[in-house]
Amino acid sequence: MSKRVIIKDARLSSDKIIELKNINEQFFIMNGRRKTYHILTYGCQMNEHDSEKISGMLTSIGYEETDDDTNADLVIFNTCLIRENAELKVFGKLGEVKGLKRNNPNMLVAVCGCMMQKEEIREKVIKKFSFVDIIFGTNTIHELPGLIYNAEINKNKSIDIIENTELIYENMPKQRKFKYKALVNITYGCNNFCTYCVVPYVRGREKSREPEEIINEVKALAQDGCKEITLLGQNVNSYGSNLEKKFTFAELLYEINKIDGIERIRFMTSHPKDLTDDLIMAIKHCSKVCNHVHLPVQAGSNNILNKMNRKYTKEHYLDLVYKLKKEIPDVAITTDIIVGFPGETEEDFLETVDVVKNVQYDSAFTFLYSMREGTKAALMEDQIPDEVKHERFDRLLDVLYKIVLERNSQCIGHTYPVLVESTSKTSDNFLTGRTEHFRLVHFKGTEELLGQIVNVKITNVKTFHMEGEIV
Ligand code: 5AD
Ligand code: SF4
Repeated sequence: MSKRVIIKDARLSSDKIIELKNINEQFFIMNGRRKTYHILTYGCQMNEHDSEKISGMLTSIGYEETDDDTNADLVIFNTCLIRENAELKVFGKLGEVKGLKRNNPNMLVAVCGCMMQKEEIREKVIKKFSFVDIIFGTNTIHELPGLIYNAEINKNKSIDIIENTELIYENMPKQRKFKYKALVNITYGCNNFCTYCVVPYVRGREKSREPEEIINEVKALAQDGCKEITLLGQNVNSYGSNLEKKFTFAELLYEINKIDGIERIRFMTSHPKDLTDDLIMAIKHCSKVCNHVHLPVQAGSNNILNKMNRKYTKEHYLDLVYKLKKEIPDVAITTDIIVGFPGETEEDFLETVDVVKNVQYDSAFTFLYSMREGTKAALMEDQIPDEVKHERFDRLLDVLYKIVLERNSQCIGHTYPVLVESTSKTSDNFLTGRTEHFRLVHFKGTEELLGQIVNVKITNVKTFHMEGEIV
């Protein structure tokens, strides 16, 4: 059954916003500087992109970004809830900011993102960190100017959360972190309810943006000089299933592939249960779609995959990998793996190691299972003791890193097009970029090459990056 998604225009227009803009302009005239904000982003690319929207919103009302949180006029925490350590980091940092706010009482502190979508955590922030002025969620980013107005002018604590919504806000201003590559949402939320995961509870049900909205955004990015886009969704492969007029992810790739100026198309994340043959063919035939598929396996044992509610088997997953490699011989495959899911036996774990050896991943994100309140897995018996999780995790990395290094070594002596993304952190004479396979490459060169795709011959490799020279 198709479900209607309501689209709203988030362009800033209300009276309060105009008033706030004027106030900030006055501040600039009086103080010779703009009000500053500092944003701390935790978690995934979805949050990175939400922070770009927050930055865009703040810029359009007269704020300027600063790296320095000690004297910013506004500090924003864009939080993540996916694992316990992400949550602990936020609470630790909030403790630090409490001291800063004592020295600078005019500083506004805002907390947003996934953690704020959960009532218990919101209540904890309100009680334990009473100095926090503004709280908003993943569905209320567009309300930020109004919340600032309320906190700054009316001196009220401002809270705005919508738990699950069918609304999509289009046309939010965005301030991109990188000039030549951009993140583009295609879906919001998730319907999959993997039993370990909080995302469906905090980001709500899956909603797809209209293809025209996405295509227009990508065209505008191309006009702005952007060369690479990454299409974002919790499960991009199910894109379009809730649109009035059905449109598949494969069809979307073909359309975006036609846009002049865009040279590389990436996408994240693919759920194996929805990776169709049509999609494999689209990746193969769209010249701009990078030959890289991030395909989270999570675990290798069918028993654990079933308990995780992943809806595929080890055999099905390996079959997909086989098809991908057959159709796209130079495809890079990366993954996410969770170690120590409840009930995981040594045999189950060895099945995961077996998948890693079988697939020969180009890289992988590995996680210790983290119990998340409210998920089904948190209620499962046989939670795995920490020492066992750690011991398996270390063994997995030993196998994985050898494979990744070996895959990188196969690149030595070969030349790859690299999109130059930034100068190196340590020297202006060194550049950093990625191959289409998402391999990070460092090489000599100067900043006039930023944003260009240059050919780099690989001379040396490490586990997490490669070194080369422009040819
Ligand atoms: N514990 C550990 N890892 C998790 N992930 C999601 N939830 C959890 C959890 N509770 C991992 C999955 C997912 C990635 C984004 O985070 O591997 O693909
Ligand atoms: Fe979480 Fe699974 Fe949805 Fe990914 S697909 S966000 S792991 S529930």
